[in-house]
Amino acid sequence: MTSKFTVSGLTKTYGANIVVDQLDLTIEEGEFLVLLGPSGCGKTTTLRCLAGLETPQGGSIAFKDRPVFDAATRANVPAHKRNIGMVFQSYALWPHMTVRDNIRYPLKVRKMKEAVGEGAVEAAADMVDCGALLDRYPAQLSGGQQQRVAVARGLVARPDLVLFDEPLSNLDARLRDQVRSQIHQLHQRLGFTAVFVTHDQAEAFALGDRLAIMKSGKIEQYDEPERVFENPVSDYVAAFIGMSNRLSLRRDHDGWATAAGDSIDLTHAVIRDSADEHTTAVARLRPDDVLLHATADEVPLGNVVLHAGLVTYEYGGRYFDVTVETGGEQLILRAPAAQHSAALRGSAPGAPLVVSFSPAALRVFAAPDGAPVTAPEPVAVGAGGHA
Ligand SMILES: Nc1ncnc2c1ncn2[C@@H]1O[C@H](COP(=O)(O)OP(=O)(O)OP(=O)(O)O)[C@@H](O)[C@H]1O
Ligand SMILES: [Mg+2]
Repeated sequence: MTSKFTVSGLTKTYGANIVVDQLDLTIEEGEFLVLLGPSGCGKTTTLRCLAGLETPQGGSIAFKDRPVFDAATRANVPAHKRNIGMVFQSYALWPHMTVRDNIRYPLKVRKMKEAVGEGAVEAAADMVDCGALLDRYPAQLSGGQQQRVAVARGLVARPDLVLFDEPLSNLDARLRDQVRSQIHQLHQRLGFTAVFVTHDQAEAFALGDRLAIMKSGKIEQYDEPERVFENPVSDYVAAFIGMSNRLSLRRDHDGWATAAGDSIDLTHAVIRDSADEHTTAVARLRPDDVLLHATADEVPLGNVVLHAGLVTYEYGGRYFDVTVETGGEQLILRAPAAQHSAALRGSAPGAPLVVSFSPAALRVFAAPDGAPVTAPEPVAVGAGGHA
């Protein structure tokens, strides 16, 4: 059985401000956990508590089943004895040290002379394709190279836990993809345990074995990427993972309708709470699940048709991102350029459009921001269900 990293009831306050609020997390050894959430929700503070750089007011932390912090017993292993590696958003290399000395630094503080002798510094540099840069200073490197050196420094001492705090957000889009892929490959090869903080959903889905979506110092959902993608537990999570379209629903006789009065058949859905108690609900929908049609004949059987008007469109190469308005709410849809270019380019704002979606693509939550009133279809995901 592998050992675990456990965070229980972690609480960190600054004055009256509760920044981390009774937070629980269990990370399996070798697991890559992504902490995902908006600015200010407490991601960095949580990492700093794990690292031993902040002293929490409450809770406990154990690494590989060994306690490193416990508010009750006042146990608190100092940062340099927690055997962690850290990679920050700002590369934080020491400017007066060469790449070699930067990467060697964690071995030096841990007095790991043998590893230095065995070429651990060179091996770590090679791992991130920086083997030729060992004698340069950070100022002589590009941003992407600096961040790769920072990754090598974070991994060189084979730490029990590697903490990444938005390490890709200072890189341009192409470099971000490259370094992301490199971190992913290194994790597959070396199998270190990681907590990776980001506010970027694409990064989270790409890297995470599991995702923890944070809201105001708490974990709102903790699950495998596919399950978060298919079954967001709240309107908040749905919005954060790309279900950017939000439709208000209201009861209409014996069914549901949009604000524009288009009726929506939710009979496929499992009503979790007593349906009678709800007269309004919120539906979330991904832009690529909304279809644009040249004529009403093209609408697939069973789809919900919306009365919508054109607001604006943006050319994206193979597709247009089209903003439409329905009942005072705006939706964004992704329309293939090949089919729709001519019609869109010939349409003025306000032009009526035929827009539809499958009701199965909807995730419906109690309004305004509560538990689902319908549970979406369960999805098959890879091995390993967990509570
Ligand atoms: N040393 C501090 N003293 C007082 N308040 C702090 C301190 N550090 C953080 N905070 C507050 O705690 C909250 C959470 O901060 P934190 O840096 O953990 O957020 P974050 O999720 O990492 O955000 P971002 O995505 O912007 O980096 C913020 O409201 C911040 O202002
Ligand atoms: Mg932060």
